Amino acid sequence: MTLLALAVTGRGLVDPHEPAVRADDEALLRGRAAFETLRIYAGRPFCLDAHLDRLEASAEVLALPRVERRRMEVLTGLVLPRAEQGDAVLRLVWTAGPQGGPPTGLALLSPVPDWIEDVRLRGARAVSLLGVRAAAPWLLPGVKSTSYAVNMAAEAEARRQGADDAVFVDADSTVLEGPTTNIWWRRERTLFTPSLDLGILAGVTRATVLELAGDCGYTVEEGHFGLTELLAADEAFTSAGVSFARSAT
Ligand SMILES: Cc1ncc(COP(=O)(O)O)c(C=O)c1O
Repeated sequence: MTLLALAVTGRGLVDPHEPAVRADDEALLRGRAAFETLRIYAGRPFCLDAHLDRLEASAEVLALPRVERRRMEVLTGLVLPRAEQGDAVLRLVWTAGPQGGPPTGLALLSPVPDWIEDVRLRGARAVSLLGVRAAAPWLLPGVKSTSYAVNMAAEAEARRQGADDAVFVDADSTVLEGPTTNIWWRRERTLFTPSLDLGILAGVTRATVLELAGDCGYTVEEGHFGLTELLAADEAFTSAGVSFARSAT
């Protein structure tokens, strides 16, 4: 990945290609860190406050040191000029730190990958894969931790099967979410999306679509829906701060 800029708590702007996290940080050793990925449009972060709220909430569930929100805002302000009023991807990471040691906050700026626009234009293909319906708190429902190895493996499996993305379904074929997206589909003027009580991530983009749908002439139904309902839709799409695609069919 090409990196445009990196700012680190206690250090400010640093060379983005140099190491920034200690080798004994629990983020590395045990995946104990929370993160956010959001899009910069014309040099401005989209819904930064909502992403910082979710970062704080994830850190609390993961029992990380409390997120120092003001410092994360300062780090964001340091890297933003490197977007040069254009579009970019901002990653905010808050680690557990070494045992008993201070957490590390990171703001990392990178270019928007080219494939996103390509896939958006041609439409995405998705395959359904078994996912976890995370009802129990220790399965971390709705938490954005850096323990995303399973999500990344699901994306790799989807690609192995010739698709662009995966749709997680539970053992009863209830539609959950994508590895890094929320799932939506449309029948006539109604949009359907899985409800948050399924333990899925409360996407910031999902909340924005919910807010705007009415003004655009759509009603929205949130709930527990089977895969057959998704397959019978007029069209389907995913929502996420950075990647966003519509179905190929
Ligand atoms: C599992 C999962 N669901 C949904 C989303 C979409 O969330 P947002 O719209 O806040 O980017 C993400 C984004 O990273 C995700 O990782």
